[in-house]
Formats: sequence, C-alpha cells, structure tokens
Amino acid sequence: MTQRTFSIIKPDATKRNLTGKINAVIEGAGLRIIAQRRIHMTEGQAKRFYEVHKERPFYGELVATMTSAPVVVQVLEGENAVARYREVMGATNPDQAAEGTIRKLFALNVGENSVHGSDSLENAAIEIAQFFSEADIVG
Ligand code: CMP
Repeated sequence: MTQRTFSIIKPDATKRNLTGKINAVIEGAGLRIIAQRRIHMTEGQAKRFYEVHKERPFYGELVATMTSAPVVVQVLEGENAVARYREVMGATNPDQAAEGTIRKLFALNVGENSVHGSDSLENAAIEIAQFFSEADIVG
C-alpha cells in the first residue's frame, strides 16, 4: 500500500550539514521526498509536536534540543512508507541501531538521533498536518 509518513531531519544533523547525506539514504531506500521545508521550530511547535511525551523526564531537554537549530520537515511517500522509514532510521538509540541505518550512520545519542519518523499511519497524518498543507505536497 502506498503511504505517506512524516520525517524530521533534526538539529544535530542540520548543524553537521548532513541533510543531503540523509536524503540520499531516504531516496536510496525507495522513499520519495514529496514535500520538504527547512524551519526553525518554535518552542510552541516543539511542545505541541511532542505532547505525547510531556510526562517523560526528557521532555524539556527534547523541546530544547529540537529548537536549538533549524530542522528539515519532510513528507515521504512510498510502499508501506511508515514501517519502511522506521526500518531505514534504525532504533531510537543509535547504540541499538542496525548497520546501514540513518541513526547508526549519523546519530550521536538517543536525544540527538538525527531523524524522527511517524510511528503509525494515523500519527503520520496528524504530524504532516501540523507542518504542511495539501498544496505544499506534490506527490
Ligand atoms: P523521536 O522519534 O523524535 O521521538 C521522541 C524522541 O525523544 C526520540 O526520537 C528521542 O530523540 C527522544 N528520546 C527518547 N528517549 C530519550 C531519552 N532517554 N533521553 C533523551 N531523549 C530521548
């Protein structure tokens, strides 16, 4: 099934000029980047985006990290895109990420793990709608 998922190239990666290298891994995995924008997330945007984690001890650090430098927000499209992108990203903690995954290749630690990807089709639609309108997405 063709799906869309939401991706963020995080501050640790944009600061190290890794946007192109990460996009090459995404495209190499058969996922098409059908919308993309570089933004500096506001505190309000980051808090809303990560609201599900607001009771976690790392929430404050997560919001601070995500607003520390620009990010690249993206919509990816492809066969089973949600699960496929999670495979391509690798485990949240780069120490546990498989060889060849984005996090194994580029992530620094669990908080600076280079990319975010939606965890379900339902959340993908919610996350995409926070940052893109349909007119921004050219499939
Ligand atoms: P992400 O996929 O963006 O979703 C939530 C983020 O919280 C996750 O990636 C990690 O970057 C971050 N995170 C998860 N666990 C921890 C932790 N123990 N300490 C700091 N950040 C974490």
